[in-house]
Amino acid sequence: MDRRAIGIFDSGLGGLTAAKVLEETMPCENIIYLGDTANMPYGPRSREDITRLALQNAEFLLEMDVKAILVACGTVSSNALDKLRESFNVPFFGVVDSAALAAAEATETGRIGVIATEASIRSGAYRRAIEACGKNVKVFETACPSFVPLVESGHFAAEDTKVRAAVEAELSALKRFGADTVILGCTHFPLLGEAIAEYLGEEVQLISCGGEAALALREYLHNENKLCPDSEMGGRRWFTSGDTAVFSAGAGVFLGHSVETEKAEF
Ligand code: DGL
Repeated sequence: MDRRAIGIFDSGLGGLTAAKVLEETMPCENIIYLGDTANMPYGPRSREDITRLALQNAEFLLEMDVKAILVACGTVSSNALDKLRESFNVPFFGVVDSAALAAAEATETGRIGVIATEASIRSGAYRRAIEACGKNVKVFETACPSFVPLVESGHFAAEDTKVRAAVEAELSALKRFGADTVILGCTHFPLLGEAIAEYLGEEVQLISCGGEAALALREYLHNENKLCPDSEMGGRRWFTSGDTAVFSAGAGVFLGHSVETEKAEF
């Protein structure tokens, strides 16, 4: 048993799609969340820049003595996971491999779509991870640069006209490709899940990369006997490097409970 907290970080609100699954499936765990909103978006940045920010986020969490870190960001997972693992002696869980595996298992037609940030698509990490699953599949990848700023500015409702226009503009080529399974390879994208599902069709299976990573982390903690005792309710701390009130408002809507956010000073 290990009562230390699980650390989790993202460039902003997106990692909450993983935190929500942690809360639902492991309510007894202590969670420390960091959204690096001051430096969002990560998607248009270079690999060097993404790595520098990822190391800073990990250091912040490690100062609070976490037992594992969930890198709830597709962009960091596809560009800087090796560097994080080399740099610190704590288990890191990225979002790419578990999502690739879930998609390879879920597809029936062998046509898999991946949508993510520019830096994630450029890295080729999702394609490699899907191909490594050894199934005969066709992969169509596309970057959706407008989605993260949209979510962070509070636009995620399916009926929001800005959301509908962005989804149609970014996903028309993917729709023509005709995937039966689509990886939401940026943790922000499940926040647009309803609009994406309506546009692509309800029969298309959407895989939340953060959700799959949270389940992989749970399996690891269980196998290693590192879960918190199930008699206690876990504590939560929410940090942002940006505006705490804006973060609390967005997080509260998405998590379905009130969130008191602390300011992260690097
Ligand atoms: N949630 C991050 C991801 O999964 C968004 C990156 C960004 O800030 O552009 O890639």
